[in-house]
Order: sequence, then structure tokens, then C-alpha cells
Amino acid sequence: MGSRRQDHFARRARQENFPARSVYKLEEIDRRLQLTRPGQHVLDLGAAPGSWTLYLCRAVGPHGLVLAVDPHDLHVPLPPNARFLRGPAADLADEIAAAGPFDLVLSDMAPATTGDRATDQFRSFELFSTAADLAARSGRDGSSFAGKIFQGSSFEEARARLRDLFIDVRVVRPKATRSESYEVFLCGIGKKS
Ligand SMILES: C[S@@+](CC[C@H](N)C(=O)[O-])C[C@H]1O[C@@H](n2cnc3c(N)ncnc32)[C@H](O)[C@@H]1O
Repeated sequence: MGSRRQDHFARRARQENFPARSVYKLEEIDRRLQLTRPGQHVLDLGAAPGSWTLYLCRAVGPHGLVLAVDPHDLHVPLPPNARFLRGPAADLADEIAAAGPFDLVLSDMAPATTGDRATDQFRSFELFSTAADLAARSGRDGSSFAGKIFQGSSFEEARARLRDLFIDVRVVRPKATRSESYEVFLCGIGKKS
């Protein structure tokens, strides 16, 4: 993917008042898998600076709720149908469970990268596993999931975990992903009871 497409997504994000271009990854995943609906309760893990939160609040509407979680503050005013929990997701598991159950669990969580690919992949796998654990605990029966993961040696283990939890498992690499990135989204549809 050329830098021209990257510039396009960054420019579009500025024009549409999203703090990060990553919103177009969620938009594509949602368009392809039809994940969001009005009235849903959605868990948004790794929410800062807040692009996904804004998109989700619009998608679920005034009768829905978005619970945004991140150790860093959002860079956008919190919409009335959103709540924010500050901290690492694993430490907030009980508060997250108390706010559930959720119709949709999303994770755009990413580690601070070190430049060492194996280390970064392992940390990404750990964040993905945290998100899958939260989906297992707090996702409603029939709910959906999408979680970011850096492709590497633990990828098949992550996919197997989702196959245990969901009826249908897909891999999506959105067009807005930077060409040099090895991230993909592992998605689960229809949480098993
Ligand atoms: C790519 S950014 C998310 C961008 C966001 N989805 C948006 O559209 O604005 C990744 C985020 O994961 C968060 N993160 C990293 N480790 C985390 C953890 N243990 N729990 C929750 N969030 C975490 C980072 O603080 C960072 O804000």
C-alpha cells in the first residue's frame, strides 16, 4: 500500500474530526462483518485517543452504551452514551464485568513497540488474550468480537482460542492498515453459550 493511501486516511480523519486514522480500520471491519447496531452495549478496549469511541457512539445511538477503556485519557469529549475506565484492561476486569454483558467486544489495544519483533508480537498476543478473556467473561451469548493482534508465532494459538469461543472466526486486514504493519484483526461472530 503506498503512502498516498496513508495520506488519504490521515487527511480524511482530520476533515471528519476523528483524532486518529484508525477509525477507518473499524469502519471497514464493521462494513464487512456488520458488527454494530443501534442500542448495543459495546466494550471498546484500547480506546485512546478516541476515534473508535466516537464511531461506536454514533453507531449504537442514544439507547446504546460504549464502555471505553485505556490507561491514557481520550483526546475527545466523552459523548453522553459513553463511559470511560482509566487503566490497563486486565486490572479492570471486575468493573468491566459489572458494566456488562456486552453485545460487542472490540480491542484495538497495542503495546508500546520496542523494535524487537518477537517481543512486540508476544506483548500484542498478551493484550489480545486479555481481550478474548474479557469477551469470554462479559460478552453476551451470540455476541461478536474483533481484536487486534500482530502476526507471529502465537497467531494460531490466538485463532484457536477464538474458535473455542465463537461459531465463526474471520481474519481482517483493513485497507487503512499501514503497509509496514504486521497487524490484523481476529474476529469472532456468535459467541457460544
Ligand atoms: C492504536 S491505539 C488505539 C486507537 C483507538 N482505537 C482510536 O481509534 O483512537 C492503542 C491503544 O491501546 C492502549 N493500550 C495498551 N495497553 C493497554 C492495556 N493493557 N489496557 C488498555 N489499553 C491499552 C494504548 O494506551 C493505546 O491508546
